[in-house]
Amino acid sequence: MIYAVGIGPGDPDMLPHKTVLLLREADVISGFDTVLSLAEKHFNPNATLISMGYKDQCEKLEQVGKYSREEKKCVVCFMGDVNFSGYEYLERINNSCHEPNPIIIPGISSAQIAASKTLTAFEASVFLTFHKRGDISKDKEFLVAALKLGKAAIIIPLPWDFMPAEISRYLIERGIPPKTKVNIFEHLTWPEEKTYHRTLKTCKEKFSDVSIMVISSIDSQL
Ligand SMILES: C[S@@+](CC[C@H](N)C(=O)[O-])C[C@H]1O[C@@H](n2cnc3c(N)ncnc32)[C@H](O)[C@@H]1O
Repeated sequence: MIYAVGIGPGDPDMLPHKTVLLLREADVISGFDTVLSLAEKHFNPNATLISMGYKDQCEKLEQVGKYSREEKKCVVCFMGDVNFSGYEYLERINNSCHEPNPIIIPGISSAQIAASKTLTAFEASVFLTFHKRGDISKDKEFLVAALKLGKAAIIIPLPWDFMPAEISRYLIERGIPPKTKVNIFEHLTWPEEKTYHRTLKTCKEKFSDVSIMVISSIDSQL
């Protein structure tokens, strides 16, 4: 059996109890090196660890699939919540483990922490990730349309091509008011967490690849 679990934004105390129990009981725990290091305090000390990087992920996931077919309890860890910007990895689990439909246990997303810090209601916002393979032009159009309708936006940037500075410049070019408020959060819930309050016009610096951006509704600034 394979469980796909969101390990939360980084603070090792921000995992659902269900996920903590699974990590304590797991026979096999796998995920990207950086993600595993955030949750390791909960790991069964006798579990087999399968940590991976971008290049060897398919071959490592094949090993996880093999363990699962041997009746081992396998947990694959995702950053934040599985359901926000996690489906490319989920697809790789499906394809490489040859064990379709892992059980998904949601986690707390960086988007939820960013929303809490900016008092951004989900129902008044759109969620977008540019952190994906392929063409992002439709997502860019969607963002402009949503902001023009008065929605706020919670955005995962694309390192290093479409980061907050490039997103801000693009939105100004597309007619979104330069004074629109923007908050950028680096390493939310990590000890080195940082917050930057900007407008589209003043959002110019280079931020970490572990950052999330919240753009306020243009209606809130009229
Ligand atoms: C592939 S996406 C996965 C997002 C994750 N599933 C979530 O729900 O937060 C990875 C990107 O999410 C953003 N991210 C994840 N955790 C973050 C955190 N603690 N603080 C700021 N941004 C974060 C960063 O932009 C990072 O490069």
